[in-house]
Amino acid sequence: MFTKLPLLPADPILGLSAAYHADNNPDKVDLGVGVYKTEQGNTPILACVKQAEAELYQSESSKVYTPPAGVPGANQAAAALAFGEQHAVIREQRVATIQTPGGCGALRTAAELIAKANPNATIWVSNPTWGNHVPLLSSAGITLKQYPYYDFNRHAIDFEAMLTTLSQAGKDDLVLLHACCHNPSGADLTPTQWQKLTELAAERGFTPFIDMAYQGFGDGIAEDAYGVRLMADKLPELILATSFSKNLGLYRERTGSLSIVAPSATAASASLSQVLSITRGLYSMPPAHGSSLVDIIYHSESLHALWLQELTDMRERISGLREQLVSALNSTQQQIDFSFIAQQRGMFSFLGLSTAQVTQLKSEFSVYMTDNSRVNIAGVSNANLDYLSQAIGKVLS
Ligand code: LMR
Repeated sequence: MFTKLPLLPADPILGLSAAYHADNNPDKVDLGVGVYKTEQGNTPILACVKQAEAELYQSESSKVYTPPAGVPGANQAAAALAFGEQHAVIREQRVATIQTPGGCGALRTAAELIAKANPNATIWVSNPTWGNHVPLLSSAGITLKQYPYYDFNRHAIDFEAMLTTLSQAGKDDLVLLHACCHNPSGADLTPTQWQKLTELAAERGFTPFIDMAYQGFGDGIAEDAYGVRLMADKLPELILATSFSKNLGLYRERTGSLSIVAPSATAASASLSQVLSITRGLYSMPPAHGSSLVDIIYHSESLHALWLQELTDMRERISGLREQLVSALNSTQQQIDFSFIAQQRGMFSFLGLSTAQVTQLKSEFSVYMTDNSRVNIAGVSNANLDYLSQAIGKVLS
């Protein structure tokens, strides 16, 4: 059976880590996988997480299964962070939230729910979008289409083209949106653009399907959820996938959530029962360690405050790096004005290099980024900034 299987290439994003680790060049620079890094290139465990783990170690008395929807306090925290504690969808019990194995678990579960609820559904994804969106969503057998999003020439969102294309979407369609820190472009919708998109969704009847993997990495918890909260206010239905991988640094703990907003509490309960039947068939129940930490941190005044401070520190370090990268790159070469990098948010930006230039950066300078020239800004440091900008300058000359 297995001798017939062909060898597949490494994942375009995850494969970069292996190649980077195998490289012996002491000057190598890793701008590949989207994980936060310190000036020293480490991804440490947040202090609030360490403290919550100590507390959990003392208080946890059993490893018996959690309820199928996961740790209740974590689900309550995930919904409150996304929608705001006082949001109508929470008050009116119109949102059903479950814990999922990471944001990926939420996306895949949502895709199965969509396939079950409407076999004729189409999901529109941004061009470009995160590489794993397509396999995650299409594996449920749903038709995917693309809407234009990022204009590589202007290094900005082509909102008019996006609206024109999405005005073809109707009641059988879902539109996958990135709540903030668009992966891979770093170009986010403005509040005005969210409002226009919400009006279009109301007019055309399509359902927003929002992926919020970087809440807090753009401008702040509430600011980054602007679109989620607005759409939940104005539209009857919405799907939301969230992740604590980045904002709590819980990458390997696979801690995410899926929320279904429905027009009534009855419809939300029915959706929850469907979602739980899907997850029972996929992975039975989610892991508990990460979500127990979310529960502890969210509900402890001091740990919550510590987390928000640590999140602010990560966000501000990335904004500072964006500014530094712009001035280093603009003083090293004249071909591209890189000022757009400082306008963007979150971990990623596109440099706008060709695949050949990306390959040259890897082979000649040991600088690693995905083939479309997406860079993880958090991989830049004071120590590698000069080397990196000189290398980019050389491939552009
Ligand atoms: C990324 O985009 O680099 C991260 O979200 C990690 C991943 O799983 O691809």
